[in-house]
Amino acid sequence: MKFYSLIPILLPALAECQAVGKPFGFATGVTGGGSATPAAPSDITQLKSWLADATPRVILINKTFDFRGSEGTTTGQVCQDNVTGLCPGGSSAGQSSITTTCDTTRGKWISGSWDTAGRTQMKVASNKSIIGVGSSGIIMGKGLALTGGVSNIIIQNVWFTNINPQYVWGGDGILLSGCDKVWIDHCKFSLMGRQFLVSGFDAAGHVTISNNEFDGVTSWSSSCNGDHYWVMLFAGALDYYTLAGNWIHHFSGRSPHIGTTVDVSTIWMHAYNNLWENGGGHSFDIDKNTYMLIEANQFTSALQPITPASSTNGGHIFDVPSSSNTGTCSSYLGRNCVVNGFSSSGSWTSFTDTSVLSQFQGLKSYLGTPAAASSVSASVKANAGIGKISQTSVTTTKTTTKATTAATTTSTSKTTTKATTTTAGNPATQTLYGQCGGIGWTGPTVCASGSTCTFGNDYYSQCLA
Ligand SMILES: *[C@@H]1O[C@H](CO)[C@@H](O)[C@H](O)[C@H]1NC(C)=O
Ligand SMILES: *[C@@H]1O[C@H](CO)[C@@H](O)[C@H](O)[C@H]1NC(C)=O
Ligand SMILES: *[C@@H]1O[C@H](CO)[C@@H](O)[C@H](O)[C@H]1NC(C)=O
Repeated sequence: MKFYSLIPILLPALAECQAVGKPFGFATGVTGGGSATPAAPSDITQLKSWLADATPRVILINKTFDFRGSEGTTTGQVCQDNVTGLCPGGSSAGQSSITTTCDTTRGKWISGSWDTAGRTQMKVASNKSIIGVGSSGIIMGKGLALTGGVSNIIIQNVWFTNINPQYVWGGDGILLSGCDKVWIDHCKFSLMGRQFLVSGFDAAGHVTISNNEFDGVTSWSSSCNGDHYWVMLFAGALDYYTLAGNWIHHFSGRSPHIGTTVDVSTIWMHAYNNLWENGGGHSFDIDKNTYMLIEANQFTSALQPITPASSTNGGHIFDVPSSSNTGTCSSYLGRNCVVNGFSSSGSWTSFTDTSVLSQFQGLKSYLGTPAAASSVSASVKANAGIGKISQTSVTTTKTTTKATTAATTTSTSKTTTKATTTTAGNPATQTLYGQCGGIGWTGPTVCASGSTCTFGNDYYSQCLA
């Protein structure tokens, strides 16, 4: 008779770091670099080449890749506008523009100097996952360009920052122009000269922008109030955006601007469960050729949730102005829409264009299910940005089987245990101690990483660690 005792010996955990969670909304089905073995580039040169080559890759960003200085410094004239550049009476400095023309009736040329690398972005080829590790993944001084017909790209848990923030046209974060199937998730954007995210006039295709932090705090603001003006600008030929679970704070404009007067453009956007907070300018600025479904967002201390021009530009908008409009959605979408929430914010404008709902009826499979606006502030702040996802780690357990009698053999086997990932597609997760269930509860039912939804009574379940 043989007796075996199993003695598991835990070896140090390896961070495997494929993308966490599943892309949802318009990026549903995006796989990026798929099952390619994750690898970390050693320096900025290798990062640049891995992003652009033809190999499907899972590129780990496990440190700061700082491009500043890598292409030198450029000095030249910049245009300083009397108002947006000089900022008389403003609470922060303004931005001057790197440009070839300057209207000297309202400004003047001054000398400037900027980091050359920031003005051009790195090309990203198809079939790539770009994944930050923990909270250490930072790309500084240079953005990404998804152009020329690339597709199937995941960018997750990476902080893009420090791209000539003092100058308009100093550089963009991510350019989406001539691409399709893109998932930008749990990233952070801050301190850039121009747009955090921008489309060109070529199609951006199917894009989900989820759980990101757009941090507009800056010392150089075109609105002279310490808030970043150029957050998101979308004007592509044929663009489908899911904008969900993002935290957009200290913004002053284009947060986002959607649409263009260029007639070739058509843009659909489902914006839900985002938090706009502490903004000294506008959130939505909607132009023509757009179909906008805006529901279950929260605006807190947001000066102007939607621009007056959005009413006259000709865009198609359904923004659930009150609870009496929620039921309008059911015959199109098979569910009610969800009202937006406001606290210490400017007024919302009523838009009930049902052509938006007809459009989204045909795109129903791409629509996420929004949680109530009242749950958004806490869940977004707990979940948006870098270092918030629980990445897959592979723990190799060496199970040694020891024989208890001299006559038996000893064998060794290896068991691989995969930790489960906890970030689901739906951005609305409840924070620790928040409500996650109960009769009548319509808020998030998924708890933030590290906590579990625990039954209290029929009317109340709570996220507990
Ligand atoms: C990043 O990952 C690579 C490959 O696993 C490793 O060699 C390197 O030491 C890591 N860098 C940091 C800063 O952790
Ligand atoms: C703006 O500044 C320029 C150059 O200093 C000056 O000539 C112009 O009169 C100013 N315009 C306004 C509108 O203040
Ligand atoms: C991306 O991967 C898919 C699936 O493996 C493949 O069919 C496609 O050709 C790849 N795209 C490019 C541009 O390599």
